[in-house]
Amino acid sequence: MMFEEMKVFAGSSHRDLANRICQSLGIPLGESTTIRFSNENLLVKIEENVRCADVFVVQTACEPLHEHIMELFILIDALKHASAARITAVIPYMPYVRSDKKDKPRISITARLMADLLETAGAHRVLLMDLHAAQIQGFFRIPADQLMAAPIICRYLEKRDLSNLVLVAPDAGEVKDLIRYANTLNLSMAIIDKRRERDDENAKAVSIIGNIEGKDCLLIDDEIASGGTVVNASKFLKARGAARVLVACTHAVLSGQAPERLAGAPIEEVIVTDTVPLASKKSKIPQLTVLTVAPLFAGAIQSIHDGNSVSRLFEHQLEQGVLDFKHS
Ligand code: R5P
Repeated sequence: MMFEEMKVFAGSSHRDLANRICQSLGIPLGESTTIRFSNENLLVKIEENVRCADVFVVQTACEPLHEHIMELFILIDALKHASAARITAVIPYMPYVRSDKKDKPRISITARLMADLLETAGAHRVLLMDLHAAQIQGFFRIPADQLMAAPIICRYLEKRDLSNLVLVAPDAGEVKDLIRYANTLNLSMAIIDKRRERDDENAKAVSIIGNIEGKDCLLIDDEIASGGTVVNASKFLKARGAARVLVACTHAVLSGQAPERLAGAPIEEVIVTDTVPLASKKSKIPQLTVLTVAPLFAGAIQSIHDGNSVSRLFEHQLEQGVLDFKHS
């Protein structure tokens, strides 16, 4: 099914990224207003005609998280009632992705609940990036496209001498992603055995599979939240004889004291993307490199609108080096 007009709107979570996506697409960001009443209720007004349009709504998971989630639902609802023909929720960092299984008695599977709520709000499809676990895609009954930051990060890394580099997974859960990097960059890999006794406790590295002595180690992770995982892993790697430690991750959540922890850790560079806003944290981490995902999202939005394959388009664009990802 082809749609005539494409429009992009954004909630208040990450308007910088939404603007960059629109710049790449060569269209203005759609106008909407969010009003917050004294009782904390939100009201969204779409300020332009969206009748019969193919609409994309950009909202990411960041503080204040629940307000941003509600704002997304209400934006979608407002667009639905304004007669948009199709609504795609573009969520660069999906909320609640770590709540994806019932691994303890009587707990919720909130990622699944999020998928249901997006559909109930009126989303016809979703566009996501690097889900904590790939199977979360299957929680959606509506089409869910998942983008990956690996090609962006690999393209950035390929410009340097990688001869002494080994890729390191900070825990077993990261191994599948690591294989993707290892295949692209043709590098060997190592896996840290990470244990976390309680959810609110910092994870600890206890042993490692693979040879890292004298090597430059690149830790790959999907997200940095408290920073505990990569900071502990970096100290562990240095103690085991690593020459240098670098980190690459998609979602720089950087909660609490994470910026200070990273700044004080034996990590030479922290390579992240802009799936969440970083303006207030960037200056606290001297080793930070931010790569933008905006052209990738713009390309995916254009492909969805045109009814083209998302994956094939990116293989082509990356081969041609068409996408310029460096942000700052
Ligand atoms: C865990 O399974 C994830 O892949 C990340 O390692 C984790 O979410 C990072 O959290 P934190 O920075 O709080 O250790």
